Amino acid sequence: MDVPFTKIWLTEEDKQEVLRVLDSGYLTYGPKTKELEKVLRKYFGKPVVMTSSCTAALTMAFAKAISKAPRPMRPWTPEIITTPLTYVATAHSIIEARAKPVFADVDPTTWCIDVDSIVSKITDDTVAIAPVHWGGNPCEMDRIMAIAEEHNLMVIEDCAQSIGAKWENRLTGTFGMAGCFSFYPTKQIGATDAGCIVCDPEDEEWYRMAIHAGSNKKIPHEGKTDVFFRGWKANCNDIDSALILSQFKRLDKNLAARMAIARMYDKELPSYYQSQSAPNSTRYLYPVIVPDRDEVIRKFKEAGISVIAQGDPVLTEMTYYRKEYGTDETTCPVASRIGASTLSLPVFPEMSMEQVGYVIKIACEIAR
Ligand SMILES: Cc1ncc(COP(=O)(O)O)c(C=O)c1O
Repeated sequence: MDVPFTKIWLTEEDKQEVLRVLDSGYLTYGPKTKELEKVLRKYFGKPVVMTSSCTAALTMAFAKAISKAPRPMRPWTPEIITTPLTYVATAHSIIEARAKPVFADVDPTTWCIDVDSIVSKITDDTVAIAPVHWGGNPCEMDRIMAIAEEHNLMVIEDCAQSIGAKWENRLTGTFGMAGCFSFYPTKQIGATDAGCIVCDPEDEEWYRMAIHAGSNKKIPHEGKTDVFFRGWKANCNDIDSALILSQFKRLDKNLAARMAIARMYDKELPSYYQSQSAPNSTRYLYPVIVPDRDEVIRKFKEAGISVIAQGDPVLTEMTYYRKEYGTDETTCPVASRIGASTLSLPVFPEMSMEQVGYVIKIACEIAR
C-alpha cells in the first residue's frame, strides 16, 4: 500500500468555486480575495491582507517592523530573533527585509522557541522576535509578549503551520504586530501558493499598498494611482482565494481529522518512537525521534510510506547560514539534535483507517 506524506483535501465544491472565478473573468486580486479577507478578519478579530505567499507576508512584516523601530545614530543592522527549527523562508525573509537573523534555540519538549534563549540573544540592535509555531505547536506567547514589552521589541509570528492553533484560547497570529500564514498546497488549507498577514489596524493600509508595489491601487480599479514607497508584487489572486475560502469552511473538520490520526499514533506506536507535541498542538506534523533515523526512513520508504526528515538540516547547519552567519551545530544544540534524529509520519485529513493502520503496522515491524 502506498501512503503519501500529505495530500490536499479538495472537494467538488472547491473545484466549482474555482470554475466560477474563471467564468467571472476577474482572476487576480479582486472580489473573491476581498470576500476571503472579510471572512478571515471575522475569524481572527484583526485585519487580514491576503498575499502571494507566507514568505512574502513575512518579508513585508519584517520590513514594517524595522521601519517602526527607533533608528540609532550609528551604522546599524537590525537583528530579528527566530529559531533554526523552521522552513528557511523565516530567516531568508529577515535578510530580505535587510536585517540579520539571530537564532535562539528551541525547547526540548515543545520544540518551540526557547524563551530563555531569546533573552540571551537580545542586543541593542534587536528589533523583533519571530516565534515559529512549528508543526502546529503554539509557542509560549504570554512569556514572549512579556519579554517583547520589557525590551521594547516587536513580535511577528510565523504561523505557516499553525492555522487554528491556540495559545491559551487565543489564536496564534493574533498576539504580535503581525501573524503570517501560508496556504501552500501542503498546508492545512492549500492553494497554488498564497499567504496572509493578520495585522494591527494601524498597519493595514500600509500592507494593502505594500502588496501592490507601494501604490494605492484600489479594487475595482478606480481613479488614479500613486506610489508612496518601494513595495512588492505580492498580492493573492481570486482563483487561490476561492480555493482557500471554500476549504476554510471545513477548517474545524480538517483539524479534527488530523488530531484523530495523531491520537491513534499516540496510542499504538511503540516507545521506540518518541513522539513530540506541545500542549494544544493542532498536529500539522507528527514528528518522532528514533535511534537510527535514516535507516528507519529507508524502511518506511521500502514499505511505500512517505516519511520526511522535516527540519534537517536546521537553518544553523545549512551551508549558506554557516558561511554567511558563522552558525554551526553548536549555535542551537537542542534544535540540531532534534533535526538530526527526527522524522515526520504522514498526517492528512483524507488518510484512510487502512492507511493509518498500515503505517502503525510497519512502524511496529521496524521497531522490533
Ligand atoms: C514555518 C514556515 N514558515 C514559512 C513558510 C513559507 O511559506 P510559503 O511557502 O507560503 O511562502 C513555510 C512553508 O513551508 C513554513 O513551513
